Amino acid sequence: MTEPPLGLLAELTHRCPLHCPYCANPLDLVRRENELDTPTWRHILDQARDLGVLQVHLSGGEPLARPDLPEILGHAHHLGCYTNLVTSGLGLTPHRLADLIDRGLDHVQLSIQDADPATATRIAGTKAVEHKRRAADLITTAGLPLTINVVLHRANLDHLPAIIDLAEQLGADRLELANTQYYGWALRNRAALLPTPAQLAAAAPVVAAAQARSRMDIVYVLADYHQATPKPCMHGWAARQLTVTPNGDVLPCPAATALTDLPIENATHTPLAQIWYQSRSFTAYRGTDWMRDPCRSCPRNTIDHGGCRCQAFQLTGDATNTDPVCTLSPHHHLIQTILTEEVHGGAFVPRR
Ligand code: SF4
Ligand code: FES
Repeated sequence: MTEPPLGLLAELTHRCPLHCPYCANPLDLVRRENELDTPTWRHILDQARDLGVLQVHLSGGEPLARPDLPEILGHAHHLGCYTNLVTSGLGLTPHRLADLIDRGLDHVQLSIQDADPATATRIAGTKAVEHKRRAADLITTAGLPLTINVVLHRANLDHLPAIIDLAEQLGADRLELANTQYYGWALRNRAALLPTPAQLAAAAPVVAAAQARSRMDIVYVLADYHQATPKPCMHGWAARQLTVTPNGDVLPCPAATALTDLPIENATHTPLAQIWYQSRSFTAYRGTDWMRDPCRSCPRNTIDHGGCRCQAFQLTGDATNTDPVCTLSPHHHLIQTILTEEVHGGAFVPRR
């Protein structure tokens, strides 16, 4: 039986003051004039709550770019949802934060690009370091729980000890150290972002030591191209969360537009419940029936769900293939080739 979704990722806008090359937003960003209006977002939230959603992640792009963010957030809170603001911190003023807290903001996830200001500026494509310090100060002073998210890659992995120290100084309760996942702009920039094996080998004990000593809850997302088995992406296709993009497209995973053969439904035309339970896009890779060997007969198929459908499609052209990260995949050589050929190449193409 299909379980209801737990979470909604509401991508309110693709507009963003930062230009991070690791962004997972698609290359074809939704333009401002095609963004959903406030009543439509309220209607989507009503349907999401009816469907069972309990957590609403307000994201983007930069959700603070939407003047109606407080109204949308307040509506999610009014419906009884836990609200999480996923932000770069740019545009967060004392007044705006106070308003969001009044309307029921529960948690903030703040991104940091690096501890080294020059590298952070180079990655973000703009001077953001002081904004982020001020944002963290506002959030912790207000007593809100703070997660700091750092996307790791070749340009910042060597600074990991300083990044962990910075997160502690900023008062984070939780630190997500997430090696880059290659979708959207990150896939475009893969050659500039891929870490070296030496960097990953050096990072592992640094993270383990920090996890042992720090008061922060530290989550380390592995560099999946370098693993022998793939990540259990999204805990399985369309299993726990749905994503609504700025123009109302409803996705089984945030990167699902990568599957160019997948028919995508839009929340302005089709009820959310119908999309979750019946649409081709959500049912295509749910469960295990769609699998072929080696996944079909593998004892791990309910653990890692055959890996990532988007990655399988991006790298092999067929989402029913085993994620090539898996050493049992007949396409695993593609990963080996990428790791060999791309690890020393490329310059960032900033997200625009
Ligand atoms: Fe996972 Fe499929 Fe590889 Fe088995 S064969 S480990 S299920 S990806
Ligand atoms: Fe889409 Fe993994 S990113 S299934």
